[in-house]
Amino acid sequence: MIKKETIDRITETALVEEVVGDFVQLKKRGTSFIGLCPFHNEKSPSFNVSPAKGIYKCFGCGKGGDSISFVMEHEKYSYPEALKYLAKKYNIEVDESEITPEYQAEVDKRESLYIISNYAAKFFESTMWESPSGQAIGLSYFRERGFRDDIIKKFELGYSPDEWTALHDKAIADGYRPEFLEETGLSVKNDSGKVYDRFRGRVMFPIHNFTGRIIGFGGRTLKTDKNVPKYVNSPESDIYHKSNVLYGLFQAKKAIRDVDNCYLVEGYADVLSVHQAGVQNVVAASGTSLTPEHVKIMARVTQNVTILFDGDAAGIKASLRGLDMILEEGLNAKVVLFPDGHDPDSYIQKLGSAAFKTHIELHQQDFIFFKTQILLKEAANDPIKKAAVIRDIIESIARIPDAIKASVFVRECSALLNVEERILIAELNNIKLTKLKKNYTRNQPDAETPQPATHSPQPEDESPLPIARGSLNEPDEAQEQELIRVLISYGDTLVNWDGMTDTYIGPYIITNLSDITFNNTLCQRIITYYHNEFDKGIMPSEKSMLHHPDKEIKNLAIALISSPYMLSANWYDMHHINVPDEKTNLKATIMGAIFHLKKKKIATMLAAKQKLLQAPNNPEQEQQLMQQYLQLKEVEKYISHYLGSVIIK
Ligand code: GTP
Ligand code: MN
Repeated sequence: MIKKETIDRITETALVEEVVGDFVQLKKRGTSFIGLCPFHNEKSPSFNVSPAKGIYKCFGCGKGGDSISFVMEHEKYSYPEALKYLAKKYNIEVDESEITPEYQAEVDKRESLYIISNYAAKFFESTMWESPSGQAIGLSYFRERGFRDDIIKKFELGYSPDEWTALHDKAIADGYRPEFLEETGLSVKNDSGKVYDRFRGRVMFPIHNFTGRIIGFGGRTLKTDKNVPKYVNSPESDIYHKSNVLYGLFQAKKAIRDVDNCYLVEGYADVLSVHQAGVQNVVAASGTSLTPEHVKIMARVTQNVTILFDGDAAGIKASLRGLDMILEEGLNAKVVLFPDGHDPDSYIQKLGSAAFKTHIELHQQDFIFFKTQILLKEAANDPIKKAAVIRDIIESIARIPDAIKASVFVRECSALLNVEERILIAELNNIKLTKLKKNYTRNQPDAETPQPATHSPQPEDESPLPIARGSLNEPDEAQEQELIRVLISYGDTLVNWDGMTDTYIGPYIITNLSDITFNNTLCQRIITYYHNEFDKGIMPSEKSMLHHPDKEIKNLAIALISSPYMLSANWYDMHHINVPDEKTNLKATIMGAIFHLKKKKIATMLAAKQKLLQAPNNPEQEQQLMQQYLQLKEVEKYISHYLGSVIIK
């Protein structure tokens, strides 16, 4: 057992924001911190850390606790394991004598696997630094490749003797159990029951987990024989899962946070060289291609990934599709290509770290543009191939959750591809529509259409201002469509905003827009449709609109529900509100849509008046125009004030 005093010291010292901050990228928000919850999948932060209270709480999945429970939950540690982890982090001594036989029994299999892995790493290290063959073969290999001793030590590199059972024999002699050697794959048992070392005569790269414990190895052969695999890696075990470990992350995580960027390379050697060059924010997916889990792990530390590709990698094109998952996680992905068959390692070793940094600066490119160029080059002048390229690129863009980012890419790709933006947007909506159809499972039976509100609500203080009907030439499409979108999404939602009467959102919107004519005829048709349905006592549901018999209405509904081109995303982003929050603050969403539309209409009218004012017919008319102009200005001011003070808060 660990002594009570020690536990107290650990709990006092371990600051929750520091402990959590090792795993989650936290941003200060007032007196607390927020970040992306590590316990469930989310794209906008709902994970809260309160230093004052010493606790964390996720408003998404509900998980909460203190420093110790965080480490237990996140690292799947037992209570004593978590305490020991924190003690190590804060240099608090846990006297071995405090560990009783009961604790020994509590140390589970996983702990044994960590311990044997650590033991093996130390064995490989000491073999390399101390034994004659280790120095002559392993150490001199690393030095000849240009790795400095401090880097070799920092990454705990080693050498496995070129013998069948060197590690196994030593470990058994030191009292370690053979089953743990086998479970971690350090020992292999053949069909005839003979046990031997997996790693023999290889330079060894220990693989660390996020907290710095060794969980596996990569071993590189020094032979040039093509029949010998260049790398042998540890197999999967209870502590090592290839798909969610990034080589070098433990050594890189601080730098990644500091510069808010992560370089992704292909090989162990690349990680070492780039790190040695002073660019410490570098990791590799070791012994496997990049997985969504890898990307999620990166996303916890930074939102910016730069992929460093080997110049001659024939696999670049093949890997492009896989890299879409980086976009899907909402990360910003950039790409740098290396010339003449170089990888980052060989480039640095040949041209030096300054040239390497310059190369990155000059040649980094957004992933989408990189992909566009590669594919375009391949398609050359073949129109059929080019059509496929366009679709491919738009499919990538369709994965970007951030609407604004996506729209920027659409615009810029339209130039690169030499295709009109609206065609790309149409294609984008098409892809989203297909996805939507696939995912559409929500079942709101049409038969259960809710009854209409019995009276038109008129909240006293917040009723949107009426504005004069006017013929408007400017298209106010964005605001109109946003209004239609919220109408479709929430029209049949029952709310109680004034604390008195329950109200359906649909009739509320329609009532408040009675003074507005929509420019877009389709939008106007939908408004009229709702009007008529309400009159018949029918409350159209989102589903009924998505399956509307009128094809045009149906298509617009689907596009609006799935398209990133909505005002709301823009608007919410501008005010740093998360789009998924729109449901939690439905009132702000609805009022925002109504007011933004009205504001836009006013702005259009103001512009028209201003134009007339520039060339008035007579002083009387000028006077009249001026008055109307000022009145409109008042209304605009009121709306702006309302949007600023009531809705945003
Ligand atoms: P050097 O040739 O020493 O520069 O190695 P590298 O780390 O640059 O490796 P390379 O670019 O050839 O391969 C990239 C990564 O793929 C390696 O770091 C390994 O993780 C993995 N890899 C390469 N060859 C093998 C192999 O034969 N078997 C396995 N399992 N993985 C390999
Ligand atoms: Mn290499």
